[in-house]
Amino acid sequence: MDWELLRETAVKAAGHAYCPYSGLRVGSAAVCDDGRIVTGCNVENASYGLGLCAECTMAGQLRLTGGGRFVAVTCRSGTGELLMPCGRCRQVLYELGGPDCLLDTPRGILPMSEVLPDAFGPDQLPEPPA
Ligand code: THU
Repeated sequence: MDWELLRETAVKAAGHAYCPYSGLRVGSAAVCDDGRIVTGCNVENASYGLGLCAECTMAGQLRLTGGGRFVAVTCRSGTGELLMPCGRCRQVLYELGGPDCLLDTPRGILPMSEVLPDAFGPDQLPEPPA
């Protein structure tokens, strides 16, 4: 896993952010299970609360470019600082990466199971009705 390349890719993605309200450019990048890299950036909104985090637009990219699963994820500001995904985004990453997906954190590279312990996830849902 080339974490340095992934981090540089996230910083580049942050360059596409639309963040006139917070001024914080955020980019995310993930290696997928087929080896490709997908990216996202935050896209804010005049209603503030409806802004999209970088991880959310990256989830769209995953689906739009062939699906699959996240294997390794990093989230960076436009100036290269490491950012931890917010709670909502951890849930989004967990859905599409599962407990073994690796995340770049201030405590090192950790599996999602450690950054979203005791997660509610797809395994806890009942079978959908026929
Ligand atoms: N943001 C992200 O894109 N990802 C996160 O995990 C945390 C926060 C964005 C949302 C908002 O556009 C800006 O950062 C400031 O909160």
